[in-house]
Amino acid sequence: MIDGKKVLFSGMQATNVLTIGNYLGALKNWLTLSDEYECFYSVVDLHSITVRQDPAELRKRARNLLTLYIAAGLDPKKNCIYYQSHVSAHAELSWILNCFTYMGELNRMTQFKDKSAKHADNINAGLFTYPVLMAADILLYQADVVPVGKDQLQHLEITRDIAQRFNAIYGDVFTIPEPYLGKVGAKIMSLQDPTKKMSKSDDNINASVYLMDDKDTIIRKFKRAVTDSEGAVLYNDTQLGIHNLIDIYCACTGKTPEEVVKEFDGKGYGEFKLAVGESVADILTPLQERFYALEKDKAYIDGVIKENAEKASYYATKTLRKVQKKVGFPERIR
Ligand code: TRP
Repeated sequence: MIDGKKVLFSGMQATNVLTIGNYLGALKNWLTLSDEYECFYSVVDLHSITVRQDPAELRKRARNLLTLYIAAGLDPKKNCIYYQSHVSAHAELSWILNCFTYMGELNRMTQFKDKSAKHADNINAGLFTYPVLMAADILLYQADVVPVGKDQLQHLEITRDIAQRFNAIYGDVFTIPEPYLGKVGAKIMSLQDPTKKMSKSDDNINASVYLMDDKDTIIRKFKRAVTDSEGAVLYNDTQLGIHNLIDIYCACTGKTPEEVVKEFDGKGYGEFKLAVGESVADILTPLQERFYALEKDKAYIDGVIKENAEKASYYATKTLRKVQKKVGFPERIR
């Protein structure tokens, strides 16, 4: 608890430009949480280097993501928006927790198996202990809740196991976090293959709509979206492409699927796709304008970075010192 509020922690990697899937599925929901929770939103750059990065590119993307958090509407006075690498406690706690995590547990992680298959030439130890760093992120802030996608639930489960194991030995040191399952965000699928999740790293650029795509690009991608030969805008489990477009349209306009089906009754896919594209552009255009204005205001962003790194450090260090004492490290002489 911080100031009587429960604590929420989440993070995103800045490895690739975000898609509307990241926005509609995660970021947009974060906006509704800052009144109820004390929120920490990290740009998890330590995690990013588990796969090879171009340094200049990583730095740029990390800053863009941090700026985007703000452009999306997260108030950096209310939400602690910061770079993971600016708070050294993450790496320090991660080391300690490594010594309380079993190889067998990490071997079971499906993301490790997937990523090592994908990056067979660079199966490094960081990729293996990635979930331990994630546990450190969450436990440092004594987070009660962690909004994550389904693909991260296994990592949250191991976080809880590590915390419980540590607490069983040393007493109540860590809060045991719960996944945040409130109003779950829309799950947005690829525009080219609606059986696959829309991904930041899809090779087909028409499969994903990026947050920084301009209106023409957005409309073009929706025009090319894969649908079916039914020819009717219906919400069911066989017309997967149309299902996905309806989900996107609903997420952008606040309408329900039933309303959308009624709205496009007797109308063609061309008209529907255009409407979906426009609804997305209507959300992204103002977000992009805020982003470009913020990007120019270097002093403001720098201020946010500095202040929030200090705030995050304050809370993280509090937990870290407690842990260091518990495991038997010598006291600091001041
Ligand atoms: N691993 C998460 C992802 O790729 C990002 C992340 C890192 C995270 N640390 C976290 C998410 C802590 C929630 C809590 O999506």
